[in-house]
Amino acid sequence: MDVAGFRELFPPLMDENPPVYLDNACMTLRPQGVIQAVQDYYARNPSCAGRSVHRWGMSISQTVTRTRRKLADHIGAVHAREVIFTPNATHSINQVAAGRKWESGDVVITSDREHNSNLVPWLQQSPSGLKLQTVKSRADNSFDIEAFEAACAEAGDSLKLVSLVHVGNLDGVEIPIADASKIAHDYGAIVHVDGAQSAPHMPINVEELGCDLFSFSLHKMLGPTGVGALWGREEVLESLEPISAGGGTVEAATAEQYTLRSIPDRLEGGLGHYAGICGTEAALDLLSNYDMRDLAEQEVRVNRIMSDGVRHLPGVEIIGPEDAGKRGGICSILLNNLDVQNVGILMDEVGGVFVRSGLHCVNQWFEARGIAQGSLRASAYAYNTEEEAKCFVDTFTEIVDGLTEAK
Ligand SMILES: Cc1ncc(COP(=O)(O)O)c(C=O)c1O
Repeated sequence: MDVAGFRELFPPLMDENPPVYLDNACMTLRPQGVIQAVQDYYARNPSCAGRSVHRWGMSISQTVTRTRRKLADHIGAVHAREVIFTPNATHSINQVAAGRKWESGDVVITSDREHNSNLVPWLQQSPSGLKLQTVKSRADNSFDIEAFEAACAEAGDSLKLVSLVHVGNLDGVEIPIADASKIAHDYGAIVHVDGAQSAPHMPINVEELGCDLFSFSLHKMLGPTGVGALWGREEVLESLEPISAGGGTVEAATAEQYTLRSIPDRLEGGLGHYAGICGTEAALDLLSNYDMRDLAEQEVRVNRIMSDGVRHLPGVEIIGPEDAGKRGGICSILLNNLDVQNVGILMDEVGGVFVRSGLHCVNQWFEARGIAQGSLRASAYAYNTEEEAKCFVDTFTEIVDGLTEAK
């Protein structure tokens, strides 16, 4: 892929002295086309979809319809109406967890490497008797499908839903969702996938994954903040009670009662983030010009240089499998002797390298291992270059050597 040409699309990278931006698992940068689309909405077409019938209203309604279709295409979904606009993946997951009626003894299974957004919404349902069971990862932090199958068997008829992260933001490790879906369906469970870290980086086909629900966020895939999506099979989405009702969700209402519209409207309460949807269309248009496999390859190329360059340093341990090819663009480093936050700050001060330090909202994983300070995470996107990866290695090495010597 033409990385140099791709980079040129991103204004923050075209500054005279741009940072080495390696915090893409948190959010990616936006290309000029996305910034322009957001601005154009406010400057030229500032209106509301699905309601007003004047020219501006009709135009933004068409944009929403087109963008919904493009979102469906991005994840291989057949029906655009099965894509719900949400503020982010967190909201999507909350809609699933709080939108279902749980009975005492119902079981939901997740893994031990879930983002808090795929943990807390299930824990919040415990007052209704819902039990959350987590499957422990293997020693190399890969998904233990045998342990998962055993957990499903143990839960038996009580198993109602499985909710798994597709690609972990902790370490970039992928869970074999298609295999897990088959097992879960054998027990009659619904399968929800947290695709926040997969939809931005690899080809997705929800039919091939065999899942029933799929959540993701646009700000991790070149789009604006404040836009997410929830895809689901029609019958599953129709069975959910909206967590935000009113506005465009209503078919009919009297002072005493109401009926809801069918999907997608029933789950999209209130005025939408139309500027964000315009930016989303621009992001999807750009991504559709690329083969997602090429993006993924570039990210692994960068990660391989980062991982091979730092793994030999004293007190340094990379979370997950040794092969960077099994960790996408994520190099998440445990620092046994040094303060992670301090190193994170120095990475910017010394080399202009932006990384993330801390728990990355995967508190449970660190808590279970007694690692209070978390890890230092460098996460690549396809605009990151091999030179940037080398800069990461040089800066990190200088800091680790300097701090270790000073001890
Ligand atoms: C794996 C995973 N799931 C869920 C989320 C939550 O996404 P958002 O904050 O966009 O709702 C994130 C964000 O980092 C994530 O990495």
